[in-house]
Amino acid sequence: MIGFMCGIVGYAGTAPANGTSTPAGHQALDVLMEGLRRLEYRGYDSAGVAVVAEGGIAMRKKAGKLANLTAELAQRPLPDSMTGIGHTRWATHGGPTDKNAHPHVVDGGKLAVIHNGIIENYAPLKAELLQQDHTFVSDTDTEVAAVLLGDIYRSLPDDGSADGARLTRAMQLAAQRLEGAFTLLAAHADHPGTVVASRRNSPLVVGLGDGENFLGSDVSGFIDYTRRAVELGQDQVVTITADTVAITDFFGAPAEGKEYLVDWDAAAAEKDGFPSFMEKEIHDQPEAVAATLLGRSDLEGKLTLDEMRIDADVLKTINKIIVLACGTSAYAGQVAKYAIEHWCRIPTEVELSHEFRYRDPIVDDKTLIVSLSQSGETMDTLMAVRYAREQGAKTIAICNTNGSTIPRESDAVLYTHAGPEIAVASTKAFLAQITAAYLLGLYLAQLRGNLFQGQIKDVLADLAKVPAKIAQVLANDGQIKELARSMADTRSVLFLGRHVGFPVAMEGALKLKELAYIHAEGFAAGELKHGPIALIEEGQPVIVVVPSPRGRDSLHAKVVSNIQEVRARGAKTIVIAEEGDESVRAHAEHVFYIPETTALLAPLLTTVPLQIFACELATAKGYDVDQPRNLAKSVTVE
Ligand code: M6R
Repeated sequence: MIGFMCGIVGYAGTAPANGTSTPAGHQALDVLMEGLRRLEYRGYDSAGVAVVAEGGIAMRKKAGKLANLTAELAQRPLPDSMTGIGHTRWATHGGPTDKNAHPHVVDGGKLAVIHNGIIENYAPLKAELLQQDHTFVSDTDTEVAAVLLGDIYRSLPDDGSADGARLTRAMQLAAQRLEGAFTLLAAHADHPGTVVASRRNSPLVVGLGDGENFLGSDVSGFIDYTRRAVELGQDQVVTITADTVAITDFFGAPAEGKEYLVDWDAAAAEKDGFPSFMEKEIHDQPEAVAATLLGRSDLEGKLTLDEMRIDADVLKTINKIIVLACGTSAYAGQVAKYAIEHWCRIPTEVELSHEFRYRDPIVDDKTLIVSLSQSGETMDTLMAVRYAREQGAKTIAICNTNGSTIPRESDAVLYTHAGPEIAVASTKAFLAQITAAYLLGLYLAQLRGNLFQGQIKDVLADLAKVPAKIAQVLANDGQIKELARSMADTRSVLFLGRHVGFPVAMEGALKLKELAYIHAEGFAAGELKHGPIALIEEGQPVIVVVPSPRGRDSLHAKVVSNIQEVRARGAKTIVIAEEGDESVRAHAEHVFYIPETTALLAPLLTTVPLQIFACELATAKGYDVDQPRNLAKSVTVE
């Protein structure tokens, strides 16, 4: 059993003055449960908490969603405590059971450990520990790390101090022996005010409070308590108490973390009255696009990257762009390719990060890598970026999560300002990624002289009008919702598009798969006659993204022909078209109109009805749209 992509939270507060709460006002358990509630999007197969109390560890853990743990705690409450760790898990192999849930408690009930990642060498370590007569109760790699940590801890001299120095040293030594990806958090009964953590290739952020400190997989783990955060580097160990945060490398050398202020607050992570985060985030999109555009260009249209460690001269010599991403982010990359090639005349490839890295790609110092990642922690993308950097490529990250690993390890970063995206299925991050990638394309075009300043200003002016147009689409969602509800029993939906409408079709299909568990495929409409049309039978729903009849009329006419072709074979045709395009009406059962915009900006509008459709259909089927089965928000291992 291997557990990964989990949510992790740690807390060290000040000893209660009156026996009920810390001076900062928080019981460890309250902080941990609130953090887990916010981090549950990362994994929801099981959850557990451990607090240090009365000379030992008190722990509760339960398979299933966090609600099961909450019920368990109501029946079997934990004692008051100022220190604790909590975990919400996503697993791949084997059943997500109580036994395999974290924390794992070892060392005679005194040491509790939680983990995110994969310990790749857990098998030889386990064999070694078994030989030393250690026993294991779970099938997890995490328990191996916990037993190893306990073993090392006991082998160190007891320095008599309660400040956790012995636990910190044990963590450093244990981390040196572990291979793979891990964030480990440990609390020990001998050090009641301390939590020690280590990280390699797996996310961990420190939250700085007043008389209390926090650890989280990301800042949402402690955003209710503080917005002051510290980024940790690779291969670091951090020890927190109520008043101190000490960072070292795995060998004990002191290290520095980078402090920053989180630019959103707890309210931004709430549902704002919507029934789900998914719906809220779909409705956040006008703001997400507007915020991503805000303050990004001066009057000449010159783009400001958040952190730029690439010389303009180097960017001028780039002869190839490779966009790296996974899932929805990769579809944003595919949309961006059309714009970047059109504006910059630089050959642009879009590659799934996991495919790129293992195919011996041609990358050199004239290659610009643009990675797209909402979380900034997707392991496939991180590894691909690292690989490309090793080959001498320059790397720019487009990312929605401040201080996350991918931007930190890139030469430059352009943050999308979509705000926290909690629903597992990505919506507002997608539109923000397209927006940011377009800004980057315009920046390169300006730098390299591919576009006149006036042309750049025109595109920026069109982009500035997009948020209001998205709001218009959202305001007219009644018709698409009604259709979605009427299709709750549908077993398969096909999506067609051309040009930038093709990745939009694929994104529409992905949303439906993820949320409604319906078979869905997105095709390039031009590919239809090369095979997919064989799928069409009486009543097969086909959703078609139609380009504007203005401009490239030939493309519009071709897509209209495609609609006719599938309809002639019995398809039920549902069309997304531009306002005023009456020509599609004759060929469609349902038409949804989006406001006029330019061909390249259309995906920022055409995607929205497809998101609403998937969300509403899944809701009609009674599914949890925020936490679809089998998925996790951040895929932090390969
Ligand atoms: O955090 P990232 O943008 O790197 O995540 C990439 C994909 O895992 C993500 O887009 C995934 O496909 C979503 N579930 C899509 O809704």
